[in-house]
Amino acid sequence: MKFSFKKMALASVASAAMAVGAMANADDVRVATDPSFVPFEMMDQESGEMVGFDMDIIREIGNRAGFTPNINTMDFNGIIPALQTGNVDIAIAGMTITDERREVVDFSDPYYDSGLQLLVGKDNTDVKAVEDLAGLKIGTKIGSTSFDFLTEKFGSDATITPYPGSADMYMALVGGSVDAVFYDAPNVGYFSQTRGEGRVKVVGPLYEGQQYGIAFPKGSDRVDAVNEALASMREDGTYDEIHAKWFGKAEE
Ligand code: ARG
Repeated sequence: MKFSFKKMALASVASAAMAVGAMANADDVRVATDPSFVPFEMMDQESGEMVGFDMDIIREIGNRAGFTPNINTMDFNGIIPALQTGNVDIAIAGMTITDERREVVDFSDPYYDSGLQLLVGKDNTDVKAVEDLAGLKIGTKIGSTSFDFLTEKFGSDATITPYPGSADMYMALVGGSVDAVFYDAPNVGYFSQTRGEGRVKVVGPLYEGQQYGIAFPKGSDRVDAVNEALASMREDGTYDEIHAKWFGKAEE
């Protein structure tokens, strides 16, 4: 009797320890991302899991650097504050490396070359470049570099609406409540080839060469390990494989 009680007690200590382990493994790293920024991060409807280019990149970095990314989704706008307060350890969300952000967070080496692009309704023949947007209604995303670009360029000479979610932003264009959307080129391109196909078109050049970086709280000791993992992925072809999976073959 006594013996089995002891065994039970031991077993429950063990399972309690396992439960704690599952919740907060020593190797778990809290990674912030945005709920939807195709094809970098998005929810797989069937599995309920976050998938995308950024998700493959951070999982592979975790494999190499010895941690398991524990993905937390939050508004893009909330990601930098979450890093600043130490609520998350790493953020990967198609985030452009800028001098302004460098003042408050640390960045990895760049992992993706991007830029901004213009999207208009398929029948629009008036807007061919950003210069044509004066006096018009433009949709963009809250807290993004495209919003900064537009406010700097137009001030109050255009009606700039920053949307919290990109789905709403694109629907505003399709529904005609804005004349154009200005946002990250890979996201704009993806929308135009998927749900926006036959309804919208990409016009004009790529604006502002930008590079995405993985962000950390200032002074984080994880930056070097992440950079090393990234470099080794570029060297052995894993980076190219992940890139091809989400964007097709390089240099199409
Ligand atoms: N690259 C732009 C920026 O850093 C937009 C990024 C939006 N990313 C996202 N996950 N919603 O401001």
